[in-house]
Amino acid sequence: MRLLVTGGCGFIGANYIHLVMREQPEDVIVNLDKLTYAGNPENMVDIEREFGGERYFFVQGDIGNVELVSHILRTHKIDAVVNFAAESHVDRSIDDCSPFIETNVVGTKNLLEASRKYGVDRFVHVSTDEVYGTLGEDGQFSEESPLAPNSPYSASKASSDMLCRAFFETHDFPVVITRCSNNYGPYQFPEKLIPLMYSKAKGGESLPVYGDGQNVRDWIYVADHCRGVDLALRKGRLGAVYNFGGAAEMKNIDVVKTILSALGKSEDLITYVKDRPGHDRRYAMNFDLAAKELGFAPSLNFAAGIQETIDWYEQNSAWLEGVESGAYRSFMNRWYGERS
Ligand code: NAD
Ligand code: DAU
Repeated sequence: MRLLVTGGCGFIGANYIHLVMREQPEDVIVNLDKLTYAGNPENMVDIEREFGGERYFFVQGDIGNVELVSHILRTHKIDAVVNFAAESHVDRSIDDCSPFIETNVVGTKNLLEASRKYGVDRFVHVSTDEVYGTLGEDGQFSEESPLAPNSPYSASKASSDMLCRAFFETHDFPVVITRCSNNYGPYQFPEKLIPLMYSKAKGGESLPVYGDGQNVRDWIYVADHCRGVDLALRKGRLGAVYNFGGAAEMKNIDVVKTILSALGKSEDLITYVKDRPGHDRRYAMNFDLAAKELGFAPSLNFAAGIQETIDWYEQNSAWLEGVESGAYRSFMNRWYGERS
């Protein structure tokens, strides 16, 4: 397949491209990424070195740019689009939701329009469990659960899901939507819980736990999510929505204590801080449909996944330092300087 992957310099997109390059040797990927603060081209440097110009092409640009997207679809004869590009951090959406509307809603609409006009065979839209809102003590979200987003981020993702649905119903456009729970693993930007707590614990800084720390997330190792997205691309039913989860519900405070214990650091570093406004209490995913129709199953439990993740951050301290110092923002200049 010839794929347009958007947001491939971000956390999950980068892991997805690594997976496809390894496991689908016939595939060609064009990675369209705007390189916002969350996009790090260094995530793709090994892929660029090995496959650049043959099976892998990087284009810096916006999914909302219809002309650019149309040009890529035409010149690279794209078969399918996998849309990871988004503003993804809930706290940032609370401070200012404008970029979330711009990319997640308007950008997705433009990407859908260009893809429909060109006539791609498949469009996988990568969404989130957060569109369902929050759960109480019991129960799980299924694909039939009503959408009830509580943050500007999740509202923007729910809007993009609805646009995808409408394109399927109205235009017969070949969309598959995936909704996944919280990811963790290599290349995650240290604004999200696990890499943030790892980084602070390493530095002996206090670890800010929101509210009472009892909020529950269903953690999935990123490679398992990427496998699910790839199954949805290759086997998914057009018009379907597939939930993915890790079957690994954890309270935030227990995630934080696990990281501290793995690093041999004291729990005295934990500091309870003011809660996130509109903070969803609990997420849990029922992914029976994906298991039945796609053969999806998470392969790593939380204990194994968090150890893999910590090992990766330990072995890639330069990556984390580059992100934290802001040096990653000048990577493109350094990379092209090095190549010319
Ligand atoms: P991320 O913030 O790490 O990466 C997003 C990437 O998209 C970045 O490389 C950024 O530069 C790029 N981007 C942003 N705006 C763009 C635009 N207008 N045009 C082109 N590129 C743009 O995000 P992530 O955690 O990798 O999430 C990827 C997708 O998966 C998102 O759609 C998110 O909603 C969804 N998702 C994330 C999780 C999670 O736990 N992180 C869980 C479920 C679903
Ligand atoms: O559920 C899927 C979603 O998971 C994705 O759609 C989002 O893109 C992704 O960012 C993530 O959203 P969360 O808000 O759940 O992730 P975050 O890492 O920001 O927070 C996880 C939990 O940890 C949440 O309950 C808030 C809490 N938290 C977070 C931070 C950053 C803290 O207690 N302290 C913190 O400093």
